[in-house]
Amino acid sequence: MDSLSIVILAAGQGKRMYSSLPKVLHPIGGQAMLSRVIRTARSLKPQRLIVVYGHGGEQVRQAIPDPDILWVQQSQQLGTGHALKMALPQLPTTGQTLVLYGDVPLTLSDTLQRLIAAAADGVAVLTDTLENASGYGRMLRSADGKLQAIIEDKDCTPVQRAIREINTGMLVLPNIQLNRWLAALNNSNAQGEYYLTDVVALAVAAGVSVNSASVSASWEAVGVNNKRQLAELERILQSQQAQALLDAGVTLADPARIDIRGTLQHGMDVAIDVNCVFEGVVELGDQVSIGPNCVLKNVKVAAGSQIAAFSHLENAVVGSDCRIGPYARLRPGAELADHTHIGNFVEIKNSRIGSGSKVNHLSYIGDAELGRQVNIGAGSITCNYDGVNKFKTVIGDQVFVGSGSMLVAPVILENGATIGAGSVINQTAPAGQLTLARVRQVTLAGWRRPVKK
Ligand code: UD1
Ligand code: CA
Repeated sequence: MDSLSIVILAAGQGKRMYSSLPKVLHPIGGQAMLSRVIRTARSLKPQRLIVVYGHGGEQVRQAIPDPDILWVQQSQQLGTGHALKMALPQLPTTGQTLVLYGDVPLTLSDTLQRLIAAAADGVAVLTDTLENASGYGRMLRSADGKLQAIIEDKDCTPVQRAIREINTGMLVLPNIQLNRWLAALNNSNAQGEYYLTDVVALAVAAGVSVNSASVSASWEAVGVNNKRQLAELERILQSQQAQALLDAGVTLADPARIDIRGTLQHGMDVAIDVNCVFEGVVELGDQVSIGPNCVLKNVKVAAGSQIAAFSHLENAVVGSDCRIGPYARLRPGAELADHTHIGNFVEIKNSRIGSGSKVNHLSYIGDAELGRQVNIGAGSITCNYDGVNKFKTVIGDQVFVGSGSMLVAPVILENGATIGAGSVINQTAPAGQLTLARVRQVTLAGWRRPVKK
């Protein structure tokens, strides 16, 4: 097969997004629209991948640090034909070029493969048929069904405007003709733009075959011009992801109330309650259950663990058969061994918790190392920060920390140490002994409550 080049047009301003972020960088499913289009393009294994950028160019290039992309600037947006012309010096004189749009994020690789095949050594345009075709270029066909031209909405006669077959904008062109065709484009049309769509009539005139392929569903060709369309496509993508999870055996309390902004890998018999958000790469082992309203970002949860309602986990690792939450927070670097319990209003940061250990109520554990079968009483915290530096707390196996204790790091609690409730510990607590650090209780004899004067 001939070599394939792909040009992604992404120079449009996106004024209607009302955003300082360039349009193609707005995320869908947690990934910039342009990154998605690039990923789809890559799946077709092109020899060359070119992105035509314009507004917010530097920001776009920095957000997509892919060394294999050829970036081409179009400083003035004079139309899609002009945009492709900017890429011409980067294109070989043989093979095919597939044109994609940076703001059409959900096109399927399979569909593009069909389009490429339909082109053979001529032209192929990806089309759709819509109830309401307004705004789109219309496909003009002869009586025998052969494509003749694409007429832009603003240039249509009333009869042409009634045509419901539309141009999605994606098309395949033979490189050998590109130089000639792009040079022949003019801007004498309703919008004063150089229309790439005019190449269809040029191809017909040159006797080059012009074919079409159609999308499998309309969302494949929907572009994003405003936040409304962005939100619509987001829902479509999320619904597809949820259906795929159901098909793979995951139990979802409601497929309309789950958001995956990245990838969610799972074992068997995983159950996810409503309103959970998964970001980055999340892995859930067999029999894991996630309660309602949880957020998991770059998290690995091993088999049999339960994450209860309203828990927030980020860059954390949870072992097997753990009980987390409700209302637990695992921050970056939290690593829980098997059978650990992290309860309500507990925050764990950059700490390793040994197997069978429990931190069940209202605690902060930061920069700490906990052994096995440790019990941290309610309201106990590691004081790991002096305002400038952070220090480590080391807690041995089977340590019991009484409620309301302050562990002032750097500090070590040796194996089997017991800390009396309400202690402020800033020196080593020796193994196997009770250590207390609190003021002794006194009762003042003869004391009377004050009375109102
Ligand atoms: C284009 C098609 C139209 C099709 C529609 C599908 C042309 C002339 N018209 O119209 O037939 O139905 O898409 O959505 O091609 N771009 C540049 N540089 C430019 C102009 C556009 O990079 O100078 C990029 C935009 O960023 C966008 C894409 O090309 O990604 C399409 O541009 P847009 O202005 O949205 O095209 P339409 O006028 O909607
Ligand atoms: Ca336009």
